[in-house]
Amino acid sequence: MNTAAPQTIFLSNYMAPGWHVESVNLTFKLAPEATRVISRIAFTPNPDAPAQPFMLHGEELTLISAAIDGVAVSPDLTAAGLTCDVPDGAFIWEAEVEIAPVKNTALEGLYMSNGMYCTQCEAEGFRKITYYPDRPDVMGVFTVRIESDLPVLLSNGNATASGAGWAEWHDPWPKPAYLFALVAGDLVAHNDSFTTMEGRDVELNIWVRAADLDKCAFGMGALKRSMVWDEQVYGRAYDLDIFNIVAVDDFNMGAMENKGLNIFNSSAVLAKQSTSTDADFQRVEAIIAHEYFHNWTGNRITCRDWFQLCLKEGLTVFRDQSFTGDLHGHAVKRIEDALVMRNRQFQEDAGPLAHPVRPESFVEINNFYTVTVYEKGAELVGMLKRLVGDDGYRAALDLYFTRHDGQAATIEDWLAAFTDATDRDLTQFKRWYAQAGTPRLTVTDDFKNGTYSLHIAQQTPDTPGQTDKLPLHIPVAVGLLDDTGAEVVATTLLELTEAQQTFTFDGLASKPVPSILRDFSAPVIIERDVTQAEQAFLLTHDTDPFNRWDAGRSLARAVLLDMIANGGDLDAGYINGLRAALTDSTLDPAMRALLLAMPSEADMAIALAGQGQTPDPDAIHQTRRKAQRQLAEALATDIPAVLSSVRIDAPFAPDADQGGRRALSNSLLSLLTWADKGTAAQAQFDTADNMTQQLSALSILLAHGAGDAAAQAFYDQWHHDRLVLNKWFGVQISAAQPQDAVAVATRLTQHPDFEWKNPNRFRSVIGALTGNQAGFHRADGAGYDFVADWLIKLDPVNPQTTARMVAGFDSMRRWDDARREKMRSALTRIKDTPGLSRDTSEMVTRLLS
Ligand code: PHE
Ligand code: ZN
Repeated sequence: MNTAAPQTIFLSNYMAPGWHVESVNLTFKLAPEATRVISRIAFTPNPDAPAQPFMLHGEELTLISAAIDGVAVSPDLTAAGLTCDVPDGAFIWEAEVEIAPVKNTALEGLYMSNGMYCTQCEAEGFRKITYYPDRPDVMGVFTVRIESDLPVLLSNGNATASGAGWAEWHDPWPKPAYLFALVAGDLVAHNDSFTTMEGRDVELNIWVRAADLDKCAFGMGALKRSMVWDEQVYGRAYDLDIFNIVAVDDFNMGAMENKGLNIFNSSAVLAKQSTSTDADFQRVEAIIAHEYFHNWTGNRITCRDWFQLCLKEGLTVFRDQSFTGDLHGHAVKRIEDALVMRNRQFQEDAGPLAHPVRPESFVEINNFYTVTVYEKGAELVGMLKRLVGDDGYRAALDLYFTRHDGQAATIEDWLAAFTDATDRDLTQFKRWYAQAGTPRLTVTDDFKNGTYSLHIAQQTPDTPGQTDKLPLHIPVAVGLLDDTGAEVVATTLLELTEAQQTFTFDGLASKPVPSILRDFSAPVIIERDVTQAEQAFLLTHDTDPFNRWDAGRSLARAVLLDMIANGGDLDAGYINGLRAALTDSTLDPAMRALLLAMPSEADMAIALAGQGQTPDPDAIHQTRRKAQRQLAEALATDIPAVLSSVRIDAPFAPDADQGGRRALSNSLLSLLTWADKGTAAQAQFDTADNMTQQLSALSILLAHGAGDAAAQAFYDQWHHDRLVLNKWFGVQISAAQPQDAVAVATRLTQHPDFEWKNPNRFRSVIGALTGNQAGFHRADGAGYDFVADWLIKLDPVNPQTTARMVAGFDSMRRWDDARREKMRSALTRIKDTPGLSRDTSEMVTRLLS
């Protein structure tokens, strides 16, 4: 628990470190209650830094002894660490501290999970291990000795020596402390090897508990695909003799890119047919790729300070998105990524937590691992690539790698690499890193004498602490279609730089239909008066797969909002458009499934709020259900033929083709259930040989009030498997009707398997409730109270996970006064909790401001 008064840290106050670290030697004598950490650090003064006192970070450490150049010293201990008088030149710092990993429930620093020791040091966890300059611009060469009776002892870099009860590791690459890692446990390895393009043989291991050994093969394949891809697409090879991945059950985030020793939330690495859905397989592959890609974008080149977090995260997300697109198809991937932007990042940008991709201040850096830094950060990389072209992008990245290898860099360095490699002036583009909020593009058009004109105006709304935003440099990909659907102007990249700008296209025979923001070329909202007829036309004819899907999505949203406002039945034009797409066998099943999916309840609430209306979560829920029932009736005769056309005859494979077929048939199963009341879903549940089909059948049955027996059967079959059990908890809440969701969640928190200190389990219940929009936003406020009670309980145990989950309240402003007041009072109750962590307190303060 942090009791020190919270301090705000500013980017503008950056000061270079007073000392460099040449080398670090660490010895760990592991014991659950009393681990000893002995450090020997070689410091040299940094001639380029302003004069400053010598200080080392340290939290929750018991200092046993300290010495400088072999002479004992008595440093001044402070809330944040220690200060000490030091010699003028280079010197050796030695210290011994004691820590208690078994008491570390925050899962930051050195902690224990099911009898195994592991570490999590990003962002500022190393200071809970020993006294150190815990900042990313201090990079040292680490040598580590681990003493323990546990059989597997791992750290970063290469294994140099070992014996009974000890092992030594040396990492030749200088790194900041946040990339340090240590693991000790009774583990087994799924082992393989890889030869790099430079001819280096690399040993690969995924370390797990023995019971999980049959869940490693897919992840190992994903790792090797990632290694090949980074060599082929970015020219980057792996740089150590060994690459270790460890699966840990108790982990706050998805995974961590520690040099040569990636530590994963077990949900982000383990996968097999019977326990993992297609979405799980895709997530595992993407996260393994993401962490592996960090070896170059994050580790070889790291961040100067935490304000530069998007330098490694935005770029690495962009790289993992490109990887997934290359392997499984770009169209579907682009739609999935745009959905994350629109449903989550635009929401963050529109609420009290809005912040720039590169924030200018923070209280607790852990609160800035957000969709804005990650996903919007990735969109900025994607826009840069569109602006400079594929060759320009590769040249810029090559320059960035050669220029900054081994350094802790900034966004300025990153943009300079683009400018120097491509001669593009990116002064205006840089505003994207500093201005929060989602730009709105208002588009109008006209046609005269064969010339078509698009008038585009841009405006970015105010966000907390930021008003009067300047125009951004926005790549807008546009194509033009004639009234037969033929493309008369192929995709063209317009560069919007002014507040208002007109783009013209000459020599056209008739007024074209524009297809704007193709491939979601920028993270912006397009505002344009479009008729439902034009949306239906684009849904049928657009040659850009993203915009074709988006036209269908906009049409669906318009139709649903119309039903909410005026009652009535599902629009026939929309049904016909969907029928055409559904039965179009030239369309990829995955794409058909995406087209068939109606906008989420959150999407509709955001849309209504965007129109200045106050959404009613119950009306949204009921209307969406009614629309699905009517769609099911309308498509009833079409469904059987489509279902048989996408049946899979081959053995199970977690690939894009089969995944698409399963996605489409599960959407159709859900529609069928309106009429058959669950017969087909129950049959699928009973015979499924993979988790995608078993879980979606369960979810459908639960949503139709026919899932009790299946839920019990699912528990009986899977209660021994932690990861599947998380799904069991979650699905009962996600699929619950609004009036039941809080009661279901309450009942599940009383279940003996509700291990609430495990972040995955906590999220599977509390997070599932905040994700059930109409259930969480119950008019009487019971959802808010339930979540607040649990967050108050979790905060002293695990501040980081608590703070992330408080963000579930960030839609507050969107709702009616009564709901908003109830949300405020739940948040106020959290804020007033004595001893609240710095993490959670920063979040509730921002939410309430
Ligand atoms: N750096 C990790 C990633 O994106 C995320 C992470 C942050 C993990 C902080 C743990 C703690 O890959
Ligand atoms: Zn990352």
